[in-house]
Amino acid sequence: MAEKKMIYLQPTAVRIWHWLNALGIVTLCATGAQIRFPEYFSIFGSYSSVISLHNTAGYVVVFSFFIWLIYYVFVARTMVKLYVPTVDDLQNGLLRQSIFYFFTFFLGGDNPHHPTPDNKFNPLQKTAYFVIMFILVPLVGVSGLLLLNVEPLSGLIIMFGGLKVLVALHYLVACCLCAFIFTHVYLATLGHTMIAHFIPMWTGWEEELEDHSDSHESH
Ligand code: HEM
Repeated sequence: MAEKKMIYLQPTAVRIWHWLNALGIVTLCATGAQIRFPEYFSIFGSYSSVISLHNTAGYVVVFSFFIWLIYYVFVARTMVKLYVPTVDDLQNGLLRQSIFYFFTFFLGGDNPHHPTPDNKFNPLQKTAYFVIMFILVPLVGVSGLLLLNVEPLSGLIIMFGGLKVLVALHYLVACCLCAFIFTHVYLATLGHTMIAHFIPMWTGWEEELEDHSDSHESH
């Protein structure tokens, strides 16, 4: 028999960071597309206005990144437990979760992962979020800040391999983040309803269906 249980999954600081970050990165991708391909996009007006919007969105992402970092490292102290994949996650969990997303989900099967505040992410989320939050967001932020201050930070830019390498890196990481958004939003719709994973990112609370007739993987 399925029973409903409410769990508090997304604390306020995480929700504020997430939506500021999402707004910032979506704006960065859209304005970045116009800056890079002005012949195809002209949604945000003149070149100087699109540049200012892009820079402002960059500051929003950097600022919100620190909300995320400070909250998980100093307040909740759950960064490592939540975000760093274990050897078992990498050896077995990734495959198990991919099989669910590619096959079992479409056959009406149960998600092998049941989130708890101490183990919110399935192995695929954990690995993807680790790469996004520890590598890609810091890289796009640092490269963006360097590109905003080319003259005063020219020494550091040379350490990165020069301006051309930095521009290429910034663009490549931005493309990865843009691709991530589409995958991330699609996978987030694969809950027990299409909006089941979106509700906790808004209210904090997730509705977990507990089936007492069979045994789940427990965390
Ligand atoms: C339109 C944009 C976005 C939407 C609709 C969205 C939606 C969601 C939803 C529903 C969740 C909770 C369920 C889940 O983990 O799948 C989530 C979590 C998360 N999202 Fe997004 N997202 C967006 C953009 C982004 C961006 C741009 C990033 C990073 C660059 C991001 C990073 C994350 C991370 C790291 C989590 C886990 C947060 C935590 O609990 O610590 N999201 N997102």
